[in-house]
Parts: sequence; structure tokens; C-alpha cells
Amino acid sequence: MDLRITKLPGDGIGPEVVNEAVKVCDSIAKKFNHNITWDKGIVGANAIEKVGNPYPDETHDKCLNSDAVLFGAIGDPKFDNNPSLKIRPEQGLLSMRKKLGLYANIRPTFTFEELIDKSPLKRELIQGTDIVFVRELTSGIYFGERGRSNDKNYAFDTCSYKRSEIERLAKIGFDLSMKRNKKLCCVDKANVLESSRLWRETIQSMESKYPDVDVSYEFVDAVAMRLIQNPSSYDVLVTSNLFGDILTDEASIISGSIGLMPSASIGDKTSVFEPIHGSYPEAAGMNIANPIATILSSSMMLKQLGLSEESDMIDYAVKESIRTGYLTKDLSNKNFVSTSELGDWIANKISEV
Ligand code: IPM
Ligand code: MN
Repeated sequence: MDLRITKLPGDGIGPEVVNEAVKVCDSIAKKFNHNITWDKGIVGANAIEKVGNPYPDETHDKCLNSDAVLFGAIGDPKFDNNPSLKIRPEQGLLSMRKKLGLYANIRPTFTFEELIDKSPLKRELIQGTDIVFVRELTSGIYFGERGRSNDKNYAFDTCSYKRSEIERLAKIGFDLSMKRNKKLCCVDKANVLESSRLWRETIQSMESKYPDVDVSYEFVDAVAMRLIQNPSSYDVLVTSNLFGDILTDEASIISGSIGLMPSASIGDKTSVFEPIHGSYPEAAGMNIANPIATILSSSMMLKQLGLSEESDMIDYAVKESIRTGYLTKDLSNKNFVSTSELGDWIANKISEV
């Protein structure tokens, strides 16, 4: 298969972790006789520095003209503590999501048996967790009307949803749950928010099309608690942009490190695959970041491109690295390996099997 993939390494540890995922994909391509052409675009703080725009048109065109996009991370502390700045790196991510129509963000949370004791949560609570969040990504409070009064003492952000936006997202959740344990939880705050009541109503109206799916409706505050108490009781969770942002960071603790969990953002045009962690600027350039979240994101990418066997092989090699105790610093205080050593190990494992 001929594949054209655009990599957007971004800021902080982004370039390092993307490098390792590229290594792993190249190893897969060699083994399975695929031909991957990598293109590269700028995004985030470094794009602001170079061209004054965190998601330049040139980058967008590259994404549109590829089969998939592999994304690292964006964000730089230089931009964080100055609320008056007009251009910020995060706007690059948001405008990429909007322009590529990436309305659904798929974020799995699972555990690796060998790493269960690295989680601050008790083994018996988290063992067997295998859940997937389907987070709405191009609407809600992230993209609603916002503003500030002239005297600067009043500010507002609006959470609004159209029925059609909820429907297309929920469809992805229902379809996914059909391939899994047929359980879908709609996470909202329908006891308070009108937009949440529309979520509930919309999902309720879709239930009859999926008679095999067991649908539940839970408030986001309760879910935040149950995710820690009994995460394996969930299967697929669908939720709005902001609730999904918060809950997926919370859920990453279950796996033992935020450096482990991948994601796929899918929608109208080219899909984007990225780790759920941020740019971790303190570690940039130190070769200590965990590349597994990005490597597993590349596995989700290959699966979405129809290459299931290849994707399974990446997952297998990652599991083997963990089983062998080949761990980066976030998971091991002593004898840890570097970002590139782990990428090399996984790429080699693939070529050996
Ligand atoms: C994420 C991130 C982004 C978000 C930020 C960087 C804008 O936290 O992908 O979860 O809030 O969506
Ligand atoms: Mn987030």
C-alpha cells in the first residue's frame, strides 16, 4: 500500500515522540511491503515563531492531501502566563480540529498487567479496565460565543450544541459499542444544563436503532467518581468537548502514566492521531519522554487505514517492551531507558517477529 502521512511534531517533547512512532511505522512498512511517504508540517508555538500562525494554511493543505496525520503535542510555557496574548499555540490545535472537521475524539483507557502497580489506584479497582471515551471535539464550550466586557470585569463562554452534532458523535459511540461490550454511557449534566438535556434527548431518540446496546445516562460529577471507584464497569462513554477533556486526563491515571494513552480524532476529512499528553516542556530535548502513547496512536492510524494486522503487530511489540521491563523514566526510577532506545527496541521487535 502507498501511504502519504503528514507528521506534525509540534512543540516540547512532540518531535521526540513522533520520531519514535515514525521509526516504528517505517519498520512495519518494511516488513509488510508498504511504502510510506512522510511529509512534515509546522504547528503550535514553533509555527507562531516561524510564521506568526499556529496552524498555517500550508500545514492545513498538507493535512488535506494526506491519508492521515500523526501529531505530537503543542504548547509552550512562554505563552501560558500572559492572558493578554492574542495568538496562542493551542489555537493551532483547535483550528486544525475545526478545519479538518475532526468532530470525534476516540480516547481509549486500558491497563497493562505489568504496570498496574504503577498506578496510584489500587490494583483491585483498576484491573481489567478497558474503556473508550468518544469526546465531541469541534463544538461546545470550546467553540461557543465568548467575550469580555469593556471594563474587563465580566467574561463569558457559551456551551451550545446542535442536535445534528450530538447525533453524529453518538453514532460513532453506538457503532463502537456494538463492536465491544455493547454498553454506552452518555455523560452529561442534564440536571443543570439545557445543552446536556439536548444530549440526553438526542441519544434517547437513537436507542431504538441499537436495541442490543445497553445505554445509561450519568452526570459528569458522578462519572468522575465512578471512574476511580469502578472503571471497569464502563465500556464506551460519549460526552461533550469539555467534559471529555477533563475525564480523559483523569482516566489516564488508571493506566499508570499519561505517557501511555493514544487517541484518534476522526471526522469529515483526514484523521489525526495523537497522544493524549501535552508538550511536557520540562522534558523537551532530554530524550526521557515516553513515546508509547504516540506509537500506539500510530497503531490506531494504521488500523483506521485498514491495516489491522500491522496495527496488531505494533500493539504486540509495545506490550512486549513493557513485559520485558523496558520502561522510560515516567514508569521506572532506576534502569530506565531513553525515548529513542525504547523506539529502537519496539521497531526492532517488529522486524524480528
Ligand atoms: C487535549 C488538550 C487540548 C484540549 C488543549 C491543548 C487545547 O488538553 O487535547 O486534551 O483542551 O482539547
Ligand atoms: Mn486535555
